[in-house]
Amino acid sequence: MKIVESCQEMSNLSLTAQKSGRRVALVPTMGALHEGHLSLLKIASRQCDFLVMSLFVNPAQFGPKEDLCKYPRPFERDCELAEAAGCDCIFAPKPSDMYPENYSTYVSVENITNTLCGASRPAHFRGVTTVVLKLFNIVSPQIAVFGQKDAQQVIVIKRMVQDLNMSLQLITAPIIRENDGLAMSSRNVYLSEDERREAPLICKSLTEAKKLYDDGERSGQAIKNRVQSILDTGRMIKTEYIEIVDTVCINPLEKIDKPALIAIACRTNESGTRLIDNIILGGDL
Ligand code: PAJ
Repeated sequence: MKIVESCQEMSNLSLTAQKSGRRVALVPTMGALHEGHLSLLKIASRQCDFLVMSLFVNPAQFGPKEDLCKYPRPFERDCELAEAAGCDCIFAPKPSDMYPENYSTYVSVENITNTLCGASRPAHFRGVTTVVLKLFNIVSPQIAVFGQKDAQQVIVIKRMVQDLNMSLQLITAPIIRENDGLAMSSRNVYLSEDERREAPLICKSLTEAKKLYDDGERSGQAIKNRVQSILDTGRMIKTEYIEIVDTVCINPLEKIDKPALIAIACRTNESGTRLIDNIILGGDL
């Protein structure tokens, strides 16, 4: 497995692979790999002949008070795990190469980035779409894989790819969970013991929501109330939002009459860790 820092070298490698008829896939990550990331690599490796994983903790998507500095960066372990999962190349550029002095160009997807996580993280999605577009331009993959764990991210990137006439195939991979249901996340390491014990309540509330839906409930409010009542039993987690929205425009659904995303964000009250999770009712992302 190659480890590449230079954007130019990455471009050349990828173009050479494509000229020799190989299908290139990209899995963008910020590292601190867990089974969720590895599942994306496995899905991608089945669909391509040259698998690139980008490993870049993207400063542009962190707010000024967020965890950019303390974000875990176990580089060597990440390289070993990625190689074992079938990765051919890790692209790990330096922040100063991705955003050199006088860097001024950003891509913003409008409307659907102001709600859910975008409401409390104003420049977050602008940072995500900018870096993802840059990665797509550098690696020029035919396929890119993203996780449903970050459902709004998937919806926003899909919109960008469609709006900007980009010709690559996006694949959405299912959420990988711990045995007790907690969605895997690089940020779970921040949780205190008590918070970790309570965190599976989020997944439990989504499972209950799905049960209600499967039993025929179609009122968004009724399902939200049930989710809230389950989250309220926790002492360590505070709800930031519970929303039931459509999967394209992210508009709230009073009546669930099309595929619906139930998205939850919570913050724990000891370590202040932000946890997100979601489920799709009546369809896929
Ligand atoms: P990161 O949080 O490292 O996640 C990289 C990819 O792994 C994303 O597509 C995310 O949805 C997926 N992922 C994370 N946890 C998962 C889980 N439990 N199950 C399945 N997939 C999971 O998301 C980012 O990085 C960044 O915003 C990025 C797209 C790399 C742009 O900087």
